[in-house]
Amino acid sequence: MVRVLFVCLGNICRSPTAEGVMQRLVGELGWDEAVVLDSAGTGDWHAGELSDARSRQAAKKRGIELVHRARQVTRADYEKFDYLLAMDHANLATLERRAPPGARARLALFRSFDPEAPKDAEVPDPYDGGDDGFEEVLDMCERACRGLADHLRREHGLALRR
Ligand code: 4NP
Repeated sequence: MVRVLFVCLGNICRSPTAEGVMQRLVGELGWDEAVVLDSAGTGDWHAGELSDARSRQAAKKRGIELVHRARQVTRADYEKFDYLLAMDHANLATLERRAPPGARARLALFRSFDPEAPKDAEVPDPYDGGDDGFEEVLDMCERACRGLADHLRREHGLALRR
């Protein structure tokens, strides 16, 4: 079993979008029994809420339903998950700062799995912007998720079904 946690600030826009995109890809690849996905925020302001309506709408247009309820990252996540994948540098820095000594999870920028993304690329926070930003988040998530799937296949011996 491989466990991946997607992490942003509020856990209502970027990380639940990444989770939804990856969940669909995992289903298409026949990996539902082999990969566990979740998302969380470094902040707790939106805990318990559904994802932002704009994120849900943008995902729905691509056939993805976002059903996640926001939650904050916990200490236990550093043990439970193999990967904590941050949407931007600020969230990666927060994850690194809060990491318990000897934490098991690998911490990385989510877009580092996209071979075509520039080095150190982030998924920008769409919260205060227009609808275009939410489409851009989905585009970035789709590319990075394909790269992440390639990585999981290579590193964790998952087979390709298509
Ligand atoms: P997210 O976007 O980190 O992609 O979920 C945000 C959502 C809410 C806030 C910030 C970012 N906020 O400050 O409330």
